[in-house]
Amino acid sequence: MLRLFVARKLSVDPRRVVGPEVDVDLWDDELPPSRTELLARVARADGLLALLTEKVDRELLEAAPSLRVVANHAVGVDNVDVPACTARGIWVTNTPDAVTESTADLTWALILAVARRLGEGERLLRAGRYKAWTPTLLLGLELRGATLGIVGLGRIGEAVARRARGFGMHVFHTTSRGGIPLEELLARSDVVTLHCPLTAATRHLIDARRLAQMKRGAILINTARGPVVDEAALVVALESGHLGGAGLDVFENEPLVHPGLIGREDVVLLPHLGTATHATREQMATMALTDAARVLRGEPPQHPVNEVHP
Ligand code: GLV
Repeated sequence: MLRLFVARKLSVDPRRVVGPEVDVDLWDDELPPSRTELLARVARADGLLALLTEKVDRELLEAAPSLRVVANHAVGVDNVDVPACTARGIWVTNTPDAVTESTADLTWALILAVARRLGEGERLLRAGRYKAWTPTLLLGLELRGATLGIVGLGRIGEAVARRARGFGMHVFHTTSRGGIPLEELLARSDVVTLHCPLTAATRHLIDARRLAQMKRGAILINTARGPVVDEAALVVALESGHLGGAGLDVFENEPLVHPGLIGREDVVLLPHLGTATHATREQMATMALTDAARVLRGEPPQHPVNEVHP
């Protein structure tokens, strides 16, 4: 029987999605398996449902001689060595579209939270420090008329841009195929939001030099991948007062967060909640499981990241 290792408890029952031909080996836990456990499980697997916490590298592929599919429960596949999978004839699939609207919503939650200082307000109130309404308490950035710079106008970037119209913001964007140059976007934007995938070209795309190109007082939002930003340089830009704040859903060494961020009032920090809605997580799980089962049954996947020739 074909065996699929599912590396985490999901928001759907995997056995209901994959059907009786596939034997599901489920890591039924909220926390990831250890690396040793993961390597032991894939040794017996024909398919792997991986989360962004599972590094699918050459070592893992060598430990998994029967592997035919890596179905990634994410749109980003930076945790997977795709060329190495292709060379082994292993399909890699992801979950595009499912994640778009919920991630765009969370991006806006962060833009609003930082611009209007929600975290600071909540902490002040809960600490019993709200004494009276005052005209100068916790003033923030008015979004109407402000400029939003979208780095990477893919599916999620476009969904963020659509919402910007409702807030009356001016929108600029960069894409790999057009838009305005990054330097210009950084210099003109009151809020910069990142929506590019993590690749060799985008690792530390936002470094000390790029942060210095941002407007004084501007806000940086990251719901893409942590390593797109040089976190240590971001801390320096915030400490110097050059940046006005940051909203981060992802971190360079997740789940660790740079100690220079934790104590700051002008940042909003979330535990990678971009896609965390019931509907999106059910759709992501169903898409990944369906594609894993398709490959194991000998059919092509619906959401391939690579091209595999049998
Ligand atoms: C989540 O981070 C994803 O890539 O889908």
